[in-house]
Amino acid sequence: MIYFHIDKQGNAKYIYKQIYENLKKIILEHRIPKGEKLPSKRELAADLGVSINSVTNAYEQLLAEGYIYTIERKGYYIEDITDFDQQTNRTTKFPSELRESYTDEADWISLSHITTDISMFPFHEWLKSQQQAIQYHQKELAQISHPQGPFTVRKTISNMIAFTRGVICEPEQIVIGSGTQPLINQLMDLQPKNSKVAVENPGYSRLYRQLISKGLDVIPISLDYHGIDMEELEHADPDFLFITPSHQFPTGKIMPISRRIELLNWSTAEEDRYIVEDDYDSEFKYDTDNIPSLQSLDRSQRVIYTGTFSKTLLPSFRISYMVLPPNLLKLYREHYLDWIHGSNSLQLFALHYFIKNGEYKKHIRRMNKHYEEKRKKLVTKLQDRFKNKINIQDIPAGLHFLAHFHSAKSYHDIRRAAKQEKLELYTIQRFLLKEVDDISEDIQIVIGFANIKDDEIDEAVERLYRIIHL
Ligand SMILES: Cc1ncc(COP(=O)(O)O)c(C=O)c1O
Repeated sequence: MIYFHIDKQGNAKYIYKQIYENLKKIILEHRIPKGEKLPSKRELAADLGVSINSVTNAYEQLLAEGYIYTIERKGYYIEDITDFDQQTNRTTKFPSELRESYTDEADWISLSHITTDISMFPFHEWLKSQQQAIQYHQKELAQISHPQGPFTVRKTISNMIAFTRGVICEPEQIVIGSGTQPLINQLMDLQPKNSKVAVENPGYSRLYRQLISKGLDVIPISLDYHGIDMEELEHADPDFLFITPSHQFPTGKIMPISRRIELLNWSTAEEDRYIVEDDYDSEFKYDTDNIPSLQSLDRSQRVIYTGTFSKTLLPSFRISYMVLPPNLLKLYREHYLDWIHGSNSLQLFALHYFIKNGEYKKHIRRMNKHYEEKRKKLVTKLQDRFKNKINIQDIPAGLHFLAHFHSAKSYHDIRRAAKQEKLELYTIQRFLLKEVDDISEDIQIVIGFANIKDDEIDEAVERLYRIIHL
């Protein structure tokens, strides 16, 4: 006979739980041998003084979890359950170095290059686009989408970038992803393991580390006045070259046509050479018109174009895309046949309507004006305050610029002082892909202006002055 105490004061669920827990304990402690028959539901209910229903629920749960089995018209029996090798309970504590600490961002001012100005985001129009997505795409929203993202959305993107960036492509060539990094991962997973890739130095350090972590042979290439150094590139002889020709990250330089053509010629000089054009913030040009993409000049299908909505909309939306030349698309289709697309289709269809309704274009026009004013104000303030101790590479594009400061401080000192002053900023050191001396008379800081509020500019410049000079 099985005996355990039941508290019958609670509701039916509470009673069933007690029977279930007690039986489970008895089984795990092997107090009833395997194969032994359990009392019938009626018997146990009578013994415990509870309803048959409560016992039935407990038996059904134990059956579902595999503690007991049943033989038809005979009853329930104890399963043969393997013991844990480790008899001790889970005693190891969660490692303290993995704990996430809350950072209070109040009073901080951001000169980060990676944010956008959310106060200007047209949420009302975005929600309207989302409503249209819900109204017209019920069928697609109930399914997983094509591995490259919904065709309708790819078509809208391809039409748009043909117009704004001169990108020549079919919607079939577009792969939408939840960020540039996952797209680059997918692209490089199509390549042989020992592929050689080259990146700009200084450059996008996240990309550099990502490529290294994939086990690729990654070579940083210096920049000259026009962009990537051709001699170093020829010498490195990579299979893939990653560049930011529209607005070099982080120096801000715009690659002239002569270097673009040189690079395209370089790409065709050997079989299977590709250039990845990272066009991350080309939508923002202040004194000039947009400069056509490198892809638009490519006659040999050697350029992979990557674009993002992180700068033009919000980085938290995680909507980015790449345009694959047909031979790489073929490989992609073979490799990712079973891939489940990782983006939120509702957001993608909302993007489709946001573009179709003309809101995207309107938003970019408004943001260009807004960012241009903010940029000018910040540049003027910096020049007024630092006088001849600052040299700004004043390239009227993007959401950041590079400023050189004459200072005897080290980058280490600058970072520490910035923390004390609660000013979020990134020095060039973060983007230098080869070791350099810490002490330098020329301190370079990548100054992002998208997220700074108008009334914070004076204070930000004062804090920066103290960081650099006091
Ligand atoms: C140089 C560069 N490339 C690409 C990206 C785009 O990243 P994502 O599309 O993953 O947001 C960024 C974002 O800040 C960037 O700085």
